[in-house]
Amino acid sequence: MRIDILTLFPDTVNAVLHESIIGRAAKKGIVDIHCVQIRDFTENRQNQVDDYPYGGGFGCVMMAQPLKSCLEYVIRDAGERRRRVIYMSPQGKPYNQECAKRLQRDYDHLVLVCGHYEGVDERFIEACVDEEISLGDFVLTGGEIAAMAVADSVCRLVPGVLADEQCYTGESHWDGLLEYPQYTRPEEWEGRRVPEILLNGDHAKVERWRRKQQLLRTKRKRPDMFAAFTPGDDEDRKLLTEIEKEADRRPITQPVTYRAAEEEDLPAILEIVQYARRTLKKQRVDQWQGVYPDEAAFRADLARGECFVVLHGEEIAAFFTLSLREEACYAEITDGKWTEGMAYCTLHRASVAKDYRGSGMAEKLIACVEQQARAFGLRCIRTDTHKKNKPMQRLLRESGFRYRGNVMVASEPGHDPARQAYEKILKK
Ligand SMILES: C[S@@+](CC[C@H](N)C(=O)[O-])C[C@H]1O[C@@H](n2cnc3c(N)ncnc32)[C@H](O)[C@@H]1O
Repeated sequence: MRIDILTLFPDTVNAVLHESIIGRAAKKGIVDIHCVQIRDFTENRQNQVDDYPYGGGFGCVMMAQPLKSCLEYVIRDAGERRRRVIYMSPQGKPYNQECAKRLQRDYDHLVLVCGHYEGVDERFIEACVDEEISLGDFVLTGGEIAAMAVADSVCRLVPGVLADEQCYTGESHWDGLLEYPQYTRPEEWEGRRVPEILLNGDHAKVERWRRKQQLLRTKRKRPDMFAAFTPGDDEDRKLLTEIEKEADRRPITQPVTYRAAEEEDLPAILEIVQYARRTLKKQRVDQWQGVYPDEAAFRADLARGECFVVLHGEEIAAFFTLSLREEACYAEITDGKWTEGMAYCTLHRASVAKDYRGSGMAEKLIACVEQQARAFGLRCIRTDTHKKNKPMQRLLRESGFRYRGNVMVASEPGHDPARQAYEKILKK
């Protein structure tokens, strides 16, 4: 790809486009970028490129002759090519990724003409320009910034400029969506953790999570783009259904914190338990279907300082009981084993309030559990759940818990005591 930028400021444009990735590609000869001084093609003694507008008015207009002579020079120099002459103009079609793709695909010589002052003589545009491109609905002093944006965005699509095609096909605007959120080291920065799913090494889950994030953030940040998006496959359709279902949920708009539960919190905790019971019943999960966990159990948790409420602003959004006592029924585990030689705490009871289900509060709850385990001075958290409690299993797995085997809990008569055992070892 050859790009000629016709400008009154070639040094400025050259300096920018010969830096970094595009600069390296130019050095390797993958792209060929020339910045040409329009003033060098004037035919008057003062090297004047502009003059007063006919009909009066402010400012000056760039003359057609130096522009045409400059253009003819680059055309001669570049020779026969699939060429496009583009005038950078606030009156052009707004530029976007589709346009970048088209320019890279359909042409191998772009001539980008930068106007200045009040613009250029209309007759030059009529006679020599194939299309006008605008950087957006605003007015710049000159076309240079717009030309650099076009040159940069086209060049990075030229094979060999970026390390891999995926470097740009996964990015914002490639397929009508924005990119998913990106994170790098450290895992925790100023109390904010990288989403656990990105640390688990499960490639398929990471891909699904990323696609869902793309859909979600496009919906939130660019409803116009989202409205125009058509799902590519069944997986997209499934994710969109999930997103629609979750749309009624309360968004997390305030900091999520937690504190030890107090007597006054009991009604809110019991209401959350009631909702959880009904949900588990609907899902045919034989967990919390008897009397347990009742008010007495929570009062005992409270007295031991083991019950905590998760707050969204001031509102109770979830609760959990994290116990320091050894769990007698974990002593016997089948089909696997616990990590040996580590003191642990047990996540006994935890649930999210109705309004916050599906809003990401469950993941926040687990983060609070981990924070409290560390506050206890422990790095090992154990818990159990019913084999049919798939949402809890998914949450645990996606939060970095590992399935360790099966245990039998002390259940009420007539209820299933079999549970799957999970464990997470927190990083030092
Ligand atoms: C001050 S502008 C001229 C604007 C012109 N008088 C008008 O109102 O349409 C000077 C030059 O900056 C460039 N320019 C300004 N805004 C631009 C935009 N949004 N996109 C691309 N180029 C732009 C054009 O090359 C233009 O000739």
